[in-house]
Amino acid sequence: MRFYLKTTAIALALAATVGSVKADGHGGVEVLHWWTSGGEAAALNVLKDDLEGQGIGWTDMPVAGGGGEQAMTVLRARVTAGNAPTAVQGLGFDIIDWANQGALANLNEVAAAEGWDEVVPTALQQFAKVNGAWVSAPVNVHSTNWVWANKAVLDANGIAAPETWEDFVAALEALSAAGITPIAHGGQAWQEATVFDGVAMSVLGPDGYKAAFVDLDPEVLGGDAMKEAFDRMAVIRANVDENFSGRDWNLATAMVINGEAGFQMMGDWAKGEFLNAGQVPGEDFLCFRFPGTQDQVTFNADQFMMFDQGGSVSAEQAALASAILSPSFQSAFNVVKGSVPARTDVSDADFDACGKQGMADLAAAASSGNLFGSMAHGHANEAAVKNAMYDVITAHFNGEFDSETAVEELVTAVEIAQ
Ligand code: GAL
Repeated sequence: MRFYLKTTAIALALAATVGSVKADGHGGVEVLHWWTSGGEAAALNVLKDDLEGQGIGWTDMPVAGGGGEQAMTVLRARVTAGNAPTAVQGLGFDIIDWANQGALANLNEVAAAEGWDEVVPTALQQFAKVNGAWVSAPVNVHSTNWVWANKAVLDANGIAAPETWEDFVAALEALSAAGITPIAHGGQAWQEATVFDGVAMSVLGPDGYKAAFVDLDPEVLGGDAMKEAFDRMAVIRANVDENFSGRDWNLATAMVINGEAGFQMMGDWAKGEFLNAGQVPGEDFLCFRFPGTQDQVTFNADQFMMFDQGGSVSAEQAALASAILSPSFQSAFNVVKGSVPARTDVSDADFDACGKQGMADLAAAASSGNLFGSMAHGHANEAAVKNAMYDVITAHFNGEFDSETAVEELVTAVEIAQ
């Protein structure tokens, strides 16, 4: 049923776009993205307004589905039909893949004029600049190893923000005893993988995380620490409500906002939902790194890939890229989105406490060798490997494998996917 609904939504999105693309012609951009939740849409409006202020029309091409899997399916169909959108939200290795296929326009002229080389963090440039050509405009830096909590719920139950796994387990037990759902979770593979980013980092440590998810070392993928990470996932599974299956991530965030649940493990796009609901960090909700990963940042950066429209980069594409990289936009957009700027020279003055922490954590992690691309969001490995990992993580979460079987399956699945 879910597959049918998804397929129908994608077909409708494709049908709806045919007319708008042709009608769009020159003078505007058609933007394919998956920012459809309340917080995401609020942030997207900052970008739309910016462009409209410059007289550039915006044709919206939203494809719902957190993490972007459905959006990428629509994109492949559009490119195959010879009808690529002007600009497309993209992540990590997917961008490199499209660039290597020759599908993306070269933005070097605007990048050079605006000095992107000097201000975009090196960790991001590896996904934005392919074989010496800038092919996408980085909008933000998100990270996945965060926990979001309802402050009133924690206070009422005498729980402080947990700093260790043991503290976290004690907090889950206290909430459960009080009749509150300890963890708000949406049962979709990408969400389980997002939780796994933080859980695996907490057990494997930074060297182990890199060895497993970036270098794909079978010893680490199949080792005792990985088995322990799966054991922790089983503890998390035991602390979600009965209706978790298939739930969208923002509906899980709403459970924390409403006080139905204590915690959610999710990237900092969740903060956009709290803000959109009028909540204030430190007063209504808390943000903290997943216990045991306080020094690490597992990042994913949203970018807009500019698809080659048959020639050099269009004036509208260059204007969009330039608007995205402008320091004032980077501040205004990321304040709303929950992410932090994709430039190193933007002030944190307008950011709330979680945003300030996010910026400080990113800078500290980058300089201490603790910054890693998120496995769950396509910044550690190519899509085939990522999807192989998703399959095993989600099968284990849903009780198909015990932890010992999961590590064996992980080694095999990754080997086949390479
Ligand atoms: C991520 C993306 C975020 C957010 C999230 C949920 O992949 O980087 O910007 O949109 O999905 O939709």
